[in-house]
Amino acid sequence: MPVFKKLFFGTLACLFVLVPLTGHAAQPDWGKASTAKIVLFYPGVTSWDFLTSDDHRLGGREITQTRKDCRHCHLSKNGELDLKADEIASGAVRMKRSHNAFEPEPAAGKKGTMQATVAAAYDDEFLYLKFEWDSRGGGWLAKSDGVPDRVSVQFNKTEPSFRKYGCFITCHNDLNTMPKSPSKKEVAADPFYGSRDRDDVRLYAYYAKKSWSDRKNRQELDKRLKEGARIDLVSVEFIDGKSVLDEGWIFDDRVLEKSPGIGDSGSFTSGKYTAVLRKRLKSTDPYGVSIKPGEVVSIGVAIHDGGAAKRKHYVSFPMTVGLGTAADIRAEMVSK
Ligand code: HEC
Repeated sequence: MPVFKKLFFGTLACLFVLVPLTGHAAQPDWGKASTAKIVLFYPGVTSWDFLTSDDHRLGGREITQTRKDCRHCHLSKNGELDLKADEIASGAVRMKRSHNAFEPEPAAGKKGTMQATVAAAYDDEFLYLKFEWDSRGGGWLAKSDGVPDRVSVQFNKTEPSFRKYGCFITCHNDLNTMPKSPSKKEVAADPFYGSRDRDDVRLYAYYAKKSWSDRKNRQELDKRLKEGARIDLVSVEFIDGKSVLDEGWIFDDRVLEKSPGIGDSGSFTSGKYTAVLRKRLKSTDPYGVSIKPGEVVSIGVAIHDGGAAKRKHYVSFPMTVGLGTAADIRAEMVSK
């Protein structure tokens, strides 16, 4: 057999061996990707309702008119967070007018902020975001009573309020574990949740409904969806020595589906989590978020760590990711 044929078959054989071993998610060449440091903060029960209320008077008007963004008022000139996050986490600060607690259940020693790094890259199929953060690895090491650790990212390309306020447009006072959450019984009796066999209120965009029990008509919702109002969601969850990538979306509800076959999207080693999220550039769903090279997408990041469940996460202000173009985080084109 001529040498070139041997080489060719040799390469093919390697591929066949490699594919089942790495299985799931092909990883880009991270050596070429740029890395950014991000700060996340503990929001307590800070919701869209708080942000647009008299309790946040100086910010509220700017927000309801989609003018100044969070970072304009809460990041100093040298990029430092100007927000009472430590006081929120410890329960030391209350809302200005209502005097409601920012954190009704403070946990001793909980820090107000945490840092993570994010590297971004893309190929012809996916955008990849690699997050790393220091942790005790409770979810991975199964030391957190079954509460996984997790990084979740919301994506949207066209919605101006998402670009400025990020995840906060999906967080409300009446969500599950938030102060005005309706009882499980009430939720289960509501036709929308009842027909879905549900008793909890999950994230929803403020423009898809005014409150948990509000219903807009289908035409109105479809119009907003066609305008790109849906927020896509990708997360990597660490539990008991495994990492699982989940995908879903947020609009009038949060829908999350386990992606079959996409396990092993990260690990916990030497006191650090590494999670690789991948988002398909061309969404398979007509209302999903699709991104092309040269475009910019906005993201909001949430990290659950240290046995934190539900609302007790750290969150980021929104950031932009550019595919081969200038943004807060520039993703470089790489080969798989
Ligand atoms: C126009 C400026 C402005 C914008 C935009 C703004 N804020 Fe504020 N925010 C303030 C001011 C000023 C306070 C201090 C309380 C007050 O006087 O209302 C505050 C207070 C807060 C607090 C209470 C803790 C503290 O540090 O006092 C939180 C939490 C908060 N803002 C979050 C946000 C988030 C999240 C966004 C974006 C969704 C945002 N803010 C947008 C001006 C702003």
